[in-house]
Amino acid sequence: MTNPVSRLLSATWPARWPLQWLPREPWAGQQPTYRDASPSLIESAVKRAGARPSGNWFVFAASRAIGGSRPVGVQVGNVELVAWRLPDGTLRVGPGACPHLGAPLALGKLRDSQVVCRWHGMAVGEEGRFGWLSYPSHDDGVLCWVRLDQLGGEEPTDRPAVPARPAARRIDAVATMTGHCEPADIVANRLDPWHGAWFHPYSFSDLRVVQVPQESDDPAADRFLVDVTFRLGGALGVPVHAEFTCPGPRTVVMRIVEGEGAGSVVETHATPIAPTHDGRPRVAVIEATVATSGRFGFQLARRAAPLVRPAMTRTAARLWRDDLAYAERRYHLRTGRP
Ligand code: FES
Ligand SMILES: [Fe+2]
Repeated sequence: MTNPVSRLLSATWPARWPLQWLPREPWAGQQPTYRDASPSLIESAVKRAGARPSGNWFVFAASRAIGGSRPVGVQVGNVELVAWRLPDGTLRVGPGACPHLGAPLALGKLRDSQVVCRWHGMAVGEEGRFGWLSYPSHDDGVLCWVRLDQLGGEEPTDRPAVPARPAARRIDAVATMTGHCEPADIVANRLDPWHGAWFHPYSFSDLRVVQVPQESDDPAADRFLVDVTFRLGGALGVPVHAEFTCPGPRTVVMRIVEGEGAGSVVETHATPIAPTHDGRPRVAVIEATVATSGRFGFQLARRAAPLVRPAMTRTAARLWRDDLAYAERRYHLRTGRP
């Protein structure tokens, strides 16, 4: 039974306050969502997302993770990559194996614009020299992308489709997690908003899906609209109206369209990475949160962004611990593989 004090506070709390008092409901007392969470509806939304073009662009890291002091090794699909920044800040990404005898360039050192290999000192990075050629890459200010035409197998595009984000007065944070499944399983998890308050009661409550996606040529019309309250801990929460869209085959964007922080986005990018030695697929979930608000407190938080970012990343990581278990389970059920 709901605590009467909690119920009274919930009933009398001013509706226009951004923070709302949440009555303490027992977890099992929530309204079940399975009747609405139609497997075929989710599946067809996942299929439509998977058919969207990506131009062969893959998100591989947070912009902040690639600096100008050392090369960074990353893997996308089966492709070993090395990434670094030129002295003017330009991102450079290319094959991660040294053209001489294959040493990992990520272990080398940066000198001017090039990586000096650890094994025999070859300086790699000049376009075409020793047969080393960079891949097209793009830094959108929050995330780094690389275009891998062989892996993508689609018609290449000059630039990735970067989702619209708040342009100013924003804080961004990027969390990266890995799981054993395929990108479609990550997308499927995000395209089941009905699990939110059941599976993550510590983060969400009062979740109601008010619009389900329709088949449409316009990806923006192919969306979920959800009313949900984000729990801030204890009995306080922030109610918002949010949409979920898939601008590409491996990306799901949650955007707050009304309520506190309107315009803020959470972009979930699922990038395939090298499988395990026994052939199990692996995926990197690279999730960027770009938050905005006109409130004074938010402007203070922006100034303390280096302190706020770890908390934002922890919140994303906690949710994804559960969501990866969901996505891995989905992979297991549809393939029969462990
Ligand atoms: S392996 Fe890189 S210089 Fe020899
Ligand atoms: Fe979830």
